[in-house]
Amino acid sequence: MAEYILETRNLGISFGGLNAVQNVNIKIKKGQIYGLIGPNGAGKTTVFNIITGVYKPTTGTFFIDGKEIKGHSQEKINHMGIARTFQNIRLFNNMTVVRNVMVGLHNRPEFKCSVIESILRLPRHFRVEKTMREKAKELLRVFDLENERNLLACNL
Ligand SMILES: Nc1ncnc2c1ncn2[C@@H]1O[C@H](COP(=O)(O)OP(=O)(O)O)[C@@H](O)[C@H]1O
Ligand SMILES: [Mg+2]
Repeated sequence: MAEYILETRNLGISFGGLNAVQNVNIKIKKGQIYGLIGPNGAGKTTVFNIITGVYKPTTGTFFIDGKEIKGHSQEKINHMGIARTFQNIRLFNNMTVVRNVMVGLHNRPEFKCSVIESILRLPRHFRVEKTMREKAKELLRVFDLENERNLLACNL
């Protein structure tokens, strides 16, 4: 475990001639909660786009748990532990609240289950689904949404 779970060093990006963000230095230890604030156009979303791999930085570099990120795909970065939500959230309307949360757990190694196992409904499929549902319920409790868990998202 590195000293910082996320560290950026002089991150910057320019689009054409425009310097959208410059010299971003962030150091976050595991378990710390940070907020990034600033006026419209300050570059907050751009920073998130860089550290999730949507944009490649023009200058500087960043590290996830001590590993330098260079040209990693968004998927790879996600598997390393960086996830995001968007300002315009999109739910699966015809699925329940708890199932919507379960979808977001698919990338966690402890919930791995192959497509074949799911199609054939092998025991692991049910085991994984059950523990996923429990984890999703636990997360919903944090947001006081546990009682809404069986509502369809379109009815929220
Ligand atoms: N893909 C892009 N092409 C050109 N300019 C961009 C792009 N993305 C962001 N910018 C510019 O970068 C600056 C920061 O934008 P943004 O990160 O969206 O700010 P915030 O999220 O803090 O409101 C703005 O000037 C914006 O116009
Ligand atoms: Mg923004």
